[in-house]
Amino acid sequence: MRTEGDSWDITSGVGSTALFVAAGRAFASREPDPLITDPFAEAFVRAAGREWEDLLDGLVAEHPLIDPGFGAGFRLYLAARTRYFDDFCDVAVAAGIRQVVILAAGLDARSYRLSWPDDAVVYELDRAPVLDFKAKALAAAGGMSRARRREVAVDLREDWPRALRDGGFDRSRPTAWLAEGLLPYLPAAAQDRLFESIDALSAPGSRVAVEQTAMLTPAAIEEMRSYADQTDHGRAEWVQLIYNEPRSEAAAWFADHAWVAERTEVDAYIRALGRTPPSPDPSAALVTSLISLVTAIRS
Ligand SMILES: C[S@@+](CC[C@H](N)C(=O)[O-])C[C@H]1O[C@@H](n2cnc3c(N)ncnc32)[C@H](O)[C@@H]1O
Repeated sequence: MRTEGDSWDITSGVGSTALFVAAGRAFASREPDPLITDPFAEAFVRAAGREWEDLLDGLVAEHPLIDPGFGAGFRLYLAARTRYFDDFCDVAVAAGIRQVVILAAGLDARSYRLSWPDDAVVYELDRAPVLDFKAKALAAAGGMSRARRREVAVDLREDWPRALRDGGFDRSRPTAWLAEGLLPYLPAAAQDRLFESIDALSAPGSRVAVEQTAMLTPAAIEEMRSYADQTDHGRAEWVQLIYNEPRSEAAAWFADHAWVAERTEVDAYIRALGRTPPSPDPSAALVTSLISLVTAIRS
């Protein structure tokens, strides 16, 4: 269960989800005809210790990410969502945006992976222990940021706009905001405050990309539990990390605040990439059928 002001590092609580998705990106990058290539994902996972290295090296017999049902579906979803946010950044840059804020950056390596113009500034916001782990792993891997990268250690449930402004953020410049893999870990009220802050800090021409997950029904939670029991995977534990409560729908919220919003279901996006959404396995289908991606532009 989550508590007010709870904290974590890269291998505990909510922080471990950043490692989990980085491992997913490492596996997705190795697939034949991959949708994504993220060389830094493997470096992050190896930096997390022997247990994680063994997973990458095929020395672990059971893990959700290598499970033929859940793992295959999850890796595909993760690759698709990575592509969506990569394309969002490319389009934002093409539109002239040079200020980017990655909310809950975790082990997102876009500052290092994508081609940024020389004058692009990328702010990466997350909890201090997560950013520390990331900085050390990147230094060990010899990574060179392609953008002017600025870390901002914050709790996104608190007054993060002040820390962002203190870090040099310029609210008069149009901004591209990314919220990938974040919203379920925020209470619904904190999500609304996050949207309000994005709205307040966004000059005309700003853009936001958001991933959102529909509230899990009791039946869906039961399905996860029974799948976790059968497979000995910790999927049910993930439910303990999220705030499974009614919350604002992102496209509607931004449209109501004078942004032009477009929502894409993840399954439709996977199809648009020429792949088949992971429907045959009920637990894998559970993941993608609940998730949608929203881009909104401030006129
Ligand atoms: C699933 S990971 C996603 C990371 C990254 N966006 C990605 O897609 O690879 C969730 C991230 O949200 C961060 N996070 C969740 N709640 C947060 C909060 N209240 N303040 C700061 N970071 C938070 C965690 O530390 C973690 O890095």
